[in-house]
Amino acid sequence: MSRINIFDTTLRDGEQSPGVNLNKLEKLEIAKQLERLGVDRMEAGFPASSEGDFQAVKSIADTIKNTSVTALARTVKSDIDIAWEALKGADEPCIHIFLATSPIHMTYKLKKTPDEVIATATEMVAYAKEKFSQVQWSAEDASRSDWSFLAQIIEKVIDAGATVINLPDTVGYTTPKEYGDMFQFIRSNVSNINKAILSCHCHNDLGMAVANSIAAVENGATQIEGTINGIGERAGNASLEEIAVALKIRSDFYPYQTNLKLQEIKRTSDMVAKLTGMYIQANKAIVGRNAFAHESGIHQDGVLKHASTYEIITPELVGVHANTLFLGKHSGRHAFKDKLKELGMELSEENIKKAFESFKRLTDHKKEVTDDDIFTIVTEIQTNT
Ligand code: KIV
Ligand code: ZN
Repeated sequence: MSRINIFDTTLRDGEQSPGVNLNKLEKLEIAKQLERLGVDRMEAGFPASSEGDFQAVKSIADTIKNTSVTALARTVKSDIDIAWEALKGADEPCIHIFLATSPIHMTYKLKKTPDEVIATATEMVAYAKEKFSQVQWSAEDASRSDWSFLAQIIEKVIDAGATVINLPDTVGYTTPKEYGDMFQFIRSNVSNINKAILSCHCHNDLGMAVANSIAAVENGATQIEGTINGIGERAGNASLEEIAVALKIRSDFYPYQTNLKLQEIKRTSDMVAKLTGMYIQANKAIVGRNAFAHESGIHQDGVLKHASTYEIITPELVGVHANTLFLGKHSGRHAFKDKLKELGMELSEENIKKAFESFKRLTDHKKEVTDDDIFTIVTEIQTNT
């Protein structure tokens, strides 16, 4: 099993979700939970972006001691200086500098030639290295960049002192095969690549962020970046809980292991949802309300006989107390009887039959039948017999 570093950017890229704004205390609370979850590195924010973010990054850097803390900076001296002021209290301060390398970004956004981009990136990595022992450099929009140009600039920034090379799929455009091939190409065409950690960072615009991240790992990336609940710019980032659980559940197929304490996943997910106000869709993998809920009679019957019939992940693995048998119009007699037992209601076979018939009639009008509804049904039957 090879070890994969988990780089959490919930507090930076995740906070870039439209409408999300975390204050210093909220960020610190999430940072402590990320430390408990066992992420290897957390990106606490972008200190040059605002005084509030500077203060939040500083308090996280001064408080969190079991996880390395990093912060984002553009390739300008003032950003690097501000990041240093925020991070210098950390045990192992790390800076994350980015500069775009795709023709689209260099032409329209940066208005720089490829040679100017190489010069700026190497100069700023060397500048950052005077202060920080760990310097991560990201080739923004790497997946839409020319691979030979990428190889050229990566070689130079590693010579300038970069310790981590991150190749983001900034706009969520790549595919698993293409992204994996790009990592292979870089490993084969950058002579000093072994001096740095290779990292992937995927956005989810086409819904492929998790698959793309895993493809990168299969092709030599040893660090995965992502966020809790997959929050982030536009359609979000790769969802770390999905990646960690996929690697665990399919360890027969993926020989990689992370340091995440999977039982902390639900708690972390709930906290991020609550503090960001970004509530999770019910059918979201791993942490959605329905991820361990079964509604149809056939599924409920199977799960009651043996959970593995319809559950590939035990709820306890990710810190969920138990699965739920959702009582709705597709539910069958087995789940209904199980619910009566759970509520401590002992009924004769004949009354169970009557109660089940009332329950079925009710599901024609109601999507979900609650415990209170069952009490009402049973009380009515008991008073009439
Ligand atoms: O998606 C991206 O390219 C980024 C960079 C700042 C690393 O978030
Ligand atoms: Zn990003």
